[in-house]
Amino acid sequence: MLKSRNKTLGEFIIENQSSFQYSSGELSKLINAIRLAAKVVNHEVNKAGLIDILGTAGDMNVQGEDQQKLDVLANEKFIQTLKNREIVCGIASEEEDDFISINSNDEQHRNKYVVLIDPLDGSSNIDVNVSVGTIFSIYRRITPEGTPVTLEDFLQPGKNQVAAGYIIYGTSTMLVYTTGDGVNGFTLNPAIGTFYLSHPEMQFPEAGKIYSVNEGNYTHFPQGVKDYIKYCQKEEGDRPYTSRYIGSLVSDFHRNMIKGGIYMYPKSSTATNGKLRLLYECNPMALIAEQANGKASNGHERILDLQPTELHERVPFFCGSKKMVEKAEGFMLKKA
Ligand code: AHG
Ligand code: MN
Ligand code: MN
Repeated sequence: MLKSRNKTLGEFIIENQSSFQYSSGELSKLINAIRLAAKVVNHEVNKAGLIDILGTAGDMNVQGEDQQKLDVLANEKFIQTLKNREIVCGIASEEEDDFISINSNDEQHRNKYVVLIDPLDGSSNIDVNVSVGTIFSIYRRITPEGTPVTLEDFLQPGKNQVAAGYIIYGTSTMLVYTTGDGVNGFTLNPAIGTFYLSHPEMQFPEAGKIYSVNEGNYTHFPQGVKDYIKYCQKEEGDRPYTSRYIGSLVSDFHRNMIKGGIYMYPKSSTATNGKLRLLYECNPMALIAEQANGKASNGHERILDLQPTELHERVPFFCGSKKMVEKAEGFMLKKA
């Protein structure tokens, strides 16, 4: 399919609909709903700096309603948009204790997809005007259509994802996603509220020179991870590599995909499974990475092969340029 540079996301979705494995149009409508929610959240994120003027979280606004924290607000906006469009049968969110089942008696709305979201990733960066994001992951339900969704619809290995993506609210707002046929990035023109295809067929460089890890945790990391970090810092060949860590996965991942690099959130003696959540963060980023010729691992196994056991479980995460992830895995194999 021809992918020209000034195509809008709306046009792109329609043109690529037939390449989905199950092309009933439902997945296209779902991506469209996410596109809409992204614009709504983008608007809220851009107002964040005004919160001191308009009121802080916990304050009452002029209507006497509580001001909400942006991660709670983003969660509500995404859930509301997906519910209103009657496009999914279930939603799980990092911000919710349990999954949400969306029942519809209408035959027409017997939807087959579930969505999992991290509505606001990197939320601690909001207060300091640094990029944040939203991550989403889409699966076909396992249980029969027309029945309420159950936990097993959400606890599927990442390789079952039919689509995944993220929105980055950065110097520009971008929506980057895959439906299993490569990765494409769209940039929002805020003046007219339209996303344009700006980054067609995104690819991780095979090798890179950036490593991204919270080195404050260094002393708590396993020896293999420490050794890999020392390898990145060593003066030899194309090294030392550059260290870059924003502290918002979406932003760190996005930079590394464009420039070449590795993102690491290892396990440590203080966090035995690391910090990142398998369902809302690691699986979607892993699918995007693999679709962009990158790699994602928990240090030993492919992220997308892991069988989840609970909604909010955490896993160690190593993701980025293929050669860098393989090198890191090599160090961890030698010393766990
Ligand atoms: P969230 O804001 O959704 O809780 O995610 C924050 C995550 C991730 O985006 C980021 O890379 C990581 O936490 C940063 O953690 P540290 O502050 O421990 O480095
Ligand atoms: Mn997150
Ligand atoms: Mn979050």
